[in-house]
Amino acid sequence: MNPQELENNLDYWLKNINKTTSFKELEQLKSDLLGKSGTITLAFKTISEVSVDEKKLFGERLNKIKSSIEDFILTKKKELEEYSMLEKLKNETLDITLPIKNNKFGGLHIITQAIRRIRNHYLARGFSVLDGPEIENDFFNFDALNMPKHHPARQSHDTFYLKEIEDSLLRTHTSCVQIRTMLNKGANVRMISIGKTYRNDALDATHSPMFHQVECLVVDKKPINIGHLKSELRRFVSFFFEVEDIAIRFRPSFFPFTEPGMEVDCKYFKKEGKLIISKDGDKWLEIGGAGMVHPNVFKACNIEQPAYGFAFGVGLERLIMLKSGIKDIRNLFDTDNRWLKYYGQ
Ligand code: PHE
Repeated sequence: MNPQELENNLDYWLKNINKTTSFKELEQLKSDLLGKSGTITLAFKTISEVSVDEKKLFGERLNKIKSSIEDFILTKKKELEEYSMLEKLKNETLDITLPIKNNKFGGLHIITQAIRRIRNHYLARGFSVLDGPEIENDFFNFDALNMPKHHPARQSHDTFYLKEIEDSLLRTHTSCVQIRTMLNKGANVRMISIGKTYRNDALDATHSPMFHQVECLVVDKKPINIGHLKSELRRFVSFFFEVEDIAIRFRPSFFPFTEPGMEVDCKYFKKEGKLIISKDGDKWLEIGGAGMVHPNVFKACNIEQPAYGFAFGVGLERLIMLKSGIKDIRNLFDTDNRWLKYYGQ
């Protein structure tokens, strides 16, 4: 066919392309026109028979026809693809009512189990379970907890600062939630908070740069004293380790946000290499920090004094390791499936 004939036919071909309803049909048309012995391809071959003067125009006309057809085929192909995708989606509905094969559910990580247990215990006793952000600022993590800028206690916290956002850091303890709660609720608080905390510690058998803390705070206008704190800690330890007869003691210590501040120990003995928490123990084990809320903390939270409160904070991984006989904290965070299965629930 010469260019004129091709141009006369162009409309007809384009209509045919448009009418196709399958990739197969489209491919057939494409091959009839642009394939090795397709109509257009053959027309290109006649270019040698054309006089030199006419060659340029001849070629231009053919190329124009060819690219119109190619464009049209491409558009149609996309249209067919879209259509077939929609059809596929229509037929591929997911039946979520199908029962799971082999009853193979995943398990809960031992940390999640502990968090849920503690949370349920305190909820049942009427405490609020609260949380705050893991990205905190100086005010909540330090200032309001009676650790103003340049306070030496800040250094012991090995803080991760976020360079990109001014004044922000990864919280080094859950005590920030104390501040958020008191600012919110004033002098009427019974709460625990369980969450992730961060310190720039190298990872080894007993340290991890990320670990969980459990924080407890009780505040009231009525006098609260160390006896209440001790009683609450006894309950917590006894509940956590599932041991009725425990013995705990306070050792004087210093936390800027408590006055007085103390470290909490509990009695244990070793039996066949296993650690047993018991009032009949012969050794003391440190389990966390505690104290009475410092007046400056009340001040920072706009709480009128006299007000009374106690708080304690414990490291969750440490308690879990003690209870389950896990020797290396890294096991809690690597992903050995055998380990996870053994401790999972
Ligand atoms: N926030 C303290 C720490 O991380 C623990 C603590 C909590 C101490 C509450 C006293 C009262 O070391």
